[in-house]
Amino acid sequence: MILVSVGPAPGALKAPEICAELEDSGHEVQVFLEPHATVFVGPASFEGRVVEKPTARPQALLFAPATPATLAKLARGMSGSPALDLWLDAIRPAVAALDADADTAAHPAVLQNVRDLRRAGCQVLLGQDGAMVSALEAANAVLGGLGGPLSGLRVLVTAGGTREPVDRVRVVSNRSSGKMGRAVAREAVRLGAEVTVVAANVEEREPGVQWVPVETYAELEEATLWLAREADALVMAAAVSDFTPAKVEEGKIRRGGKKEMDLKLVATGDVLKAVRGSSPGLFVVGFAATFGDPVDDAREKLESKGADLMVGNDISLSGSGFGSDENEVHVVGKGGERFVPRASKREVAREILDAMAREIGDKER
Ligand code: CTP
Repeated sequence: MILVSVGPAPGALKAPEICAELEDSGHEVQVFLEPHATVFVGPASFEGRVVEKPTARPQALLFAPATPATLAKLARGMSGSPALDLWLDAIRPAVAALDADADTAAHPAVLQNVRDLRRAGCQVLLGQDGAMVSALEAANAVLGGLGGPLSGLRVLVTAGGTREPVDRVRVVSNRSSGKMGRAVAREAVRLGAEVTVVAANVEEREPGVQWVPVETYAELEEATLWLAREADALVMAAAVSDFTPAKVEEGKIRRGGKKEMDLKLVATGDVLKAVRGSSPGLFVVGFAATFGDPVDDAREKLESKGADLMVGNDISLSGSGFGSDENEVHVVGKGGERFVPRASKREVAREILDAMAREIGDKER
C-alpha cells in the first residue's frame, strides 16, 4: 500500500490523478488529507481512498503536494500527523513533491530543507518555478523508488519518425506519432528503469525521462549510437527514414512552370544494425511494421538485424499501429513468439517490457 499525504496547496488538484496512476500500476493507495487540503480538493475526489490513519504499514510514502512547512517538518523530524510519523518510522521510499510560489521555492531556508531531506533519504521533486511536478512525475518517482523488474537498468527508447529535408521548407517523413515509443518509455519508468528517449519529432514530451529531441536520420543515428554505450537495453520504436534526398536545396525549390520534378533519394544506414555492432552487450528490441502478417518479417529481421526481440505489427489493420492509441502485435524472440491482441499502447508496451525483463533475467542467470 502507498500512503499519499495531500497538503494544502494548488497541486492537491493533481492528487486524484496520482492515486489513479499508482493504482493502475497495481498498488493499493490510501490518502491522508492534511489540515486545510480540502480548500483545494474534497474527499469525494479520492473515491473512498481517504483514511484518518493508514490501515496497514505502507510500502511507500508520498507527500504531494508538500508545502514548504511540510518540508521543514520532515527535515527537522517533527511528528504530528500519521504521514509525518511514518517518515520518522523509516518508511522508504519517501517522496515529497514541493508546491510553493517561485520566491519561496528559491528561499535559502527551503533549499536547505531540500538538501537535508535528500541526505536523509527522501526524494524531493522540484517543479518549474516552484509549482508541483505533474501527477505522472510524482507517481513515477514513487514507483521508481519501489523498484521493479527493470530497476537498476538504463533503457534507451527511440520514438517518433525522422524527417529528411528536401529544401528549407519541405521534408520526406512518415506517419509515426511517437505514441508507441512514449508508452514504452512510460512503462519502463514504472517498472523501475532509468529512461532516455531519443525523440524524433514527437509533439508531446514524456515527463520523468531524459528527453533528447532529434529531427533527421543522421541526428537520430548519432544520438542513439552515443547513448547506447551507456544503456543496458534499447527499444527501437522510431520509424527511421530508409532514404534521404541526395541533395538538400539551399533555399526553397520553386514550382515555376514545372509540370513534374524528380527527387533523387539515397539509402540511409541501419541504426539498429549499427548499434548491434558498436554495443554488443546491449539488449535490443526492434519493431517490424509490415503490411500483412508480420510474423515472418519479424523473424527474418530478428536474425538479419541481430535483435534480441522483434515486435511485429500488421499496418494493414485499421485502428491499430501508426497514429492510433491501440496496437496489436506479435513479440518474436529467439525462443518463440507471443501474440498480444489489440490493446492500448500502454498495455502493449507493458507486454513488450515484461518479455524483455524475462529475457534479460534469463541471460543473467
Ligand atoms: N530501423 C533502423 N534504421 C533504419 C530503418 C529501420 O534502425 N534505417 C529499425 C527500426 O527502428 C525498427 C527496425 O529497424 O526497429 C525495423 O524497421 P523496418 O522499417 O521494419 O525495417 P527495414 O530495415 O526498413 O526493412 P524493410 O523496409 O525492407 O522492411
